[in-house]
Amino acid sequence: MIKAGIITASDKGYAGERIDESGKVIAERMGEINAEVVRYIVSPDERDVLSSHLKHMADELSIDLIFTTGGTGFSPRDITPEATLDVIDRHVPGIPEAMRAKSLEITSRAMLSRAVSGIRNKTLIINLPGSPKGVSECLDIILPVLPHAIQILKGQTGECARK
Ligand code: MTE
Repeated sequence: MIKAGIITASDKGYAGERIDESGKVIAERMGEINAEVVRYIVSPDERDVLSSHLKHMADELSIDLIFTTGGTGFSPRDITPEATLDVIDRHVPGIPEAMRAKSLEITSRAMLSRAVSGIRNKTLIINLPGSPKGVSECLDIILPVLPHAIQILKGQTGECARK
């Protein structure tokens, strides 16, 4: 079973002024990859707060897969990619590349997502957009590949042969 964590980056969600639908969408879809959500946090859009949540989930809770949602756009407070880059050891450009490429077929606004993805030790971190629609569309694109990604990361398979 994959251990998953969710961080919703939203000042309004953190202040209780907005219900977090996007985090719920992620949680509801974890069954598709046999993942269990072991931690779910709504965080303010603060770089150091976000990066400390990421570090705690990776280092203390040994979570395999962390999704963030929100804070990837151009608003002055959007800082999730920077917080992610602060904590990763290795970049995984292919995941946000795939999300943007496929999402551009749905909306040209996908080019406005600054989402990144990377690895911290044995934890894969993936930024998703903030809207429930964007989250759902991006999960459609990446979920099928993630079990294999986590297996490799955990050393459970070195085998990448195509079926
Ligand atoms: N990707 C998909 N698949 N679907 C979407 O609706 N919205 C875009 C983009 N990526 C979107 C998407 C928009 S409008 C923005 S501004 C950016 O994600 C950043 O969103 P965020 O600031 O909420 O993270």
